[in-house]
Amino acid sequence: MLSEIWYFEKPGKQNTERTLELAVKRAEELGIRYIVVASSTGETALKLIELVEGKNIKPVVVTYHRGFYREGEDSMDKSTEERIREKAILVRQSHILSGLERSISRKLGGASRTEAIAEALRSLFGHGLKVCVEITIMAADSGAIPIEEVIAVGGRARGADTAVVIRPAHMNNFFDMQIKEIICIPREKR
Ligand SMILES: Cc1cc2nc3c(=O)[nH]c(=O)nc-3n(C[C@H](O)[C@H](O)[C@H](O)COP(=O)(O)O)c2cc1C
Repeated sequence: MLSEIWYFEKPGKQNTERTLELAVKRAEELGIRYIVVASSTGETALKLIELVEGKNIKPVVVTYHRGFYREGEDSMDKSTEERIREKAILVRQSHILSGLERSISRKLGGASRTEAIAEALRSLFGHGLKVCVEITIMAADSGAIPIEEVIAVGGRARGADTAVVIRPAHMNNFFDMQIKEIICIPREKR
């Protein structure tokens, strides 16, 4: 099988539109029913929602857990959240690749095995791919997607720069996950 990969020169938000277009195109080619996208403020989510309008693709938006920036506060404002919930499934839950261990590492130093997996993914493949893996588990664990091939989209801090075709897994079966295809990824990881 011959398949194309789009390489961005550098990671970052400037790659968002192209990443989302490529993700939707590949979903249509493969008959994929769900696109899982990371979105902190909702900006990237709304762009995806517009692109899949009228298509047989359900957007699943994974956002930061409450308190990520400030205790008790969400990263997305209420009106944006309402607009997203009209057209997509919204997932807000603990981040699977940091978890409670993040508090221990912050307080006592060191790092957990989970954080080591996250750092390996980030360093070798870029932040966006680490995010794709993480949000796919979060979406599966919250029941937003079934265990079937989906497309996941992540980025570097804001926007999107990486899209993959991925076979999801739950947090208790991480190694059942498979990255089937890389649709686009930054060539430079940092
Ligand atoms: C659960 C979760 C974990 C994330 N982890 C990282 C990360 O490790 N590194 C990073 O650069 N961005 C990370 N992000 C940011 C996303 O990749 C993406 O760029 C951002 O959520 C898009 O938000 P926007 O729609 O407000 O632009 C994470 C986002 C979420 C929801």
